[in-house]
Amino acid sequence: MHKPAILGGQKAVPDGMIKPWPPIEDVDRRYVMASLEGGKHTFGPNCVEFEKEFAAWNGNKFAITTNSGTAALHMAVAACGCGAGDHVIVPAYSWSSSVTCVIHHNCIPVFVDMDFDTMNMDVSKIESAITPKTKAILVVHLHGLSVNMDAVLAVARRHNLKVIEDACQAHGARFKGRKVGLWGDCTAFSLNQNKCLCSGEGGMLVTDNEDLYKNARTLWSFGETRSPAESRDYHAYALGWMYRNNDLTAAFGRAQLTRLDRYLETQRRNAAVLLDELKSVCGLILPVEPKGHLHNWYNFQIRLNVQELGWTGNPARLRDAMLKALAAEGVPAGIWQRFILPVMTVFQAKNAYGKGCPWSCPYTNDVVYDPAAFPASRRHLDAHFGMTTPLRAPNGPEAVKAVALGIRKVFENANKLDVDKILK
Ligand SMILES: Cc1ncc(COP(=O)(O)O)c(C=O)c1O
Repeated sequence: MHKPAILGGQKAVPDGMIKPWPPIEDVDRRYVMASLEGGKHTFGPNCVEFEKEFAAWNGNKFAITTNSGTAALHMAVAACGCGAGDHVIVPAYSWSSSVTCVIHHNCIPVFVDMDFDTMNMDVSKIESAITPKTKAILVVHLHGLSVNMDAVLAVARRHNLKVIEDACQAHGARFKGRKVGLWGDCTAFSLNQNKCLCSGEGGMLVTDNEDLYKNARTLWSFGETRSPAESRDYHAYALGWMYRNNDLTAAFGRAQLTRLDRYLETQRRNAAVLLDELKSVCGLILPVEPKGHLHNWYNFQIRLNVQELGWTGNPARLRDAMLKALAAEGVPAGIWQRFILPVMTVFQAKNAYGKGCPWSCPYTNDVVYDPAAFPASRRHLDAHFGMTTPLRAPNGPEAVKAVALGIRKVFENANKLDVDKILK
C-alpha cells in the first residue's frame, strides 16, 4: 500500500472519488432556468438582487456585480482616485491582474516581497516602499488567508493612503473576527469557476463609502451615472468600460450564494483533517493560520523542505517530479503561479501602452523592478504546490484522507524517485 503509484504501487485516490466543483443542485437549475425564461438577459433583475444579497452576506453597504474580478479591481483602483502617475503598492506574488489593474488606470505598481510563512505581502516592508507619489496600498488575501489588516491600516493612516483589498480568493476569510471586504476602502471578489463562490465568470466590488461606490458605478457602465436598471440618458460623464454582469450569470451566483456558508464550513473541516493527517510527514511545510486569522482554505498550499528531504539540486525540479508522482496517486495538485510578478514581461519590458507608458510619462517617477529584491517570493516559487478541489464540497474526510495518503506516500519515498527520469 505504501509503494508510490509512480513506482508501480496502488493509487491512493481511486478514480471518481474526488467530486468536481461546484456542486450543482436543483436550486441552481431553478434560478438559471427562471432567468433564461425571464427575457432579461443583460443586466437584469438577478443582477440587482445579487448585488443586494452579496452586500448583505458580506456586511457591506454597497456592491456592484461585474463580469470579472479583474474588472472589479480596476474599478476599485479608479474609485479610490488613483490616477495617472500615482504609485500603488502591490504584492510581488499574486495573480497578474492583482497588479495589471493598477496599470489599467495609468498608475505605477511598486512591489513588496512576500512574508514566507503566511505567503501574503510582508506588511513590515510596506512603509519603506512608499514614495511621494504613493496613493494606495493594494493587498491580496492570498489563498484565502487575510493579510494583517491592522498593520496595513496603520501605515495607510500615517501616510493618508487608500486601501484596496483583492479578496478574489478570500470569500468569508476573517481577520480578528471581521470579514475581508470590511477593512479597506474598496474590495474586489472574483466569482470565476474555481472560486469559493462560483458563477462561471464574474466579480463583485464592495465598499461602504457612497462616493467611492458612485465613482465605481460610473466606470462600470460606459461612464454613465445611472444603472441600466434605471432610465438611462446614455451620456458618458467619465471614461467608462463595459464591466457589467449579465442576468444568467447572476442567477447562478445567487443560487450558489445560498450555500456559500455551508461550503466554507466544509472547506474548514476538510483543511483541519488534511493538516492533521500531514502533521508528522517529513519534508513538507504546511500552511499556517496565524492567531486572529480565519482561513477560508481556498487553496491549500504546501512547500517542500528540501533540506529535510536531503535534496541539494534545484528545488523546482524535485517539486515537479513529486507533482508527477502525486498525479500518479490521483492527487489533483498543481502549481498556481510559476513566476513572481516583477519578472513578468509586462513589467520587465514596461510594454503596457507602448512608448514606455505609463512608466516614462512626464507626470510620474519611474521605478526599477529588480527580481533580486523579492527573495521570499522566489523561494516560495520553487517550492510550492497546492490544491483546491479535494477540500471543496461535496468532498469530505474520506476524499481528504485518500489525498493525504497519496502525499504521505510520495514524501516518504522522495529519495527513491528518479527525478531526471520522471521529468524526461
Ligand atoms: C488573487 C486574484 N486576483 C484577481 C483575480 C482575477 O479574477 P477574475 O479571473 O475573476 O478576473 C484572481 C482570479 O483569477 C485572483 O486569484
